[in-house]
Amino acid sequence: MATLGVNLDHIANVRQARQTFEPDPVQFAFLAELGGANSITVHLREDRRHIQDRDIFLLRDTIKTKLNLEMAATEEMLKISKKLLPDYVTLVPEKREEITTEGGLDVKNNEKHLKKFVDNLKSSNIEVSAFIDPYNEQIISSREIGFNFIELHTGKYSDLKGEKQNVELQRIIESTYYAIDLGLVVNAGHGLNSQNVEKIASINNINELNIGHSIVARALAVGLEKAVSEMKALILKN
Ligand code: PXP
Repeated sequence: MATLGVNLDHIANVRQARQTFEPDPVQFAFLAELGGANSITVHLREDRRHIQDRDIFLLRDTIKTKLNLEMAATEEMLKISKKLLPDYVTLVPEKREEITTEGGLDVKNNEKHLKKFVDNLKSSNIEVSAFIDPYNEQIISSREIGFNFIELHTGKYSDLKGEKQNVELQRIIESTYYAIDLGLVVNAGHGLNSQNVEKIASINNINELNIGHSIVARALAVGLEKAVSEMKALILKN
């Protein structure tokens, strides 16, 4: 049964729209946990457009579940994460001009840099995940580098419809089994919502689904605790 990681970046987006103190993602993390979140995910971006340094350190001290820090593989983020000691780090590609994370990390073409980076994090007992597109060459490289987890990018699956979506779903299913056979733990996320989550949640032995935008959007109508518990119920159905 997959677990649910709740991404709180969009709570911070609303706060940063006014550069003020509310809403506070740290307070909302409590509600996400009450709703059944198994981990809390935040992306500390280089440009600090939503989550701030203060948020991650307060979350580290206060949440009862696991802290998943999404970040780019840069020297600045390495220093911060080794001070923070999150339960795990998810390495993502980052471009300043993008609206959200576009495409997975190109692990295959950055093996040397990433191996050093992952070894360094693991030496501080931080588990490391690679956010990758569902392609075997990226999975093999992730395994060789020593990532503990991969997170398969479901953005394309979420954007497609009909038969094209089924083809992408099949690719995600096959990638999941392939990675599990290689000894990786497999998470998935991006673009998942109440309409498309069940097919991903029903993949055998998929570990955790990371969901942000759709839960925060639903929270505007019903509150975050309920929005999280609704999504968790859909995942547990499968
Ligand atoms: N996983 C990763 C690696 C992401 O970058 C994001 C977006 O921040 C998510 C999951 C969550 O995506 P969404 O907000 O579309 O649910």
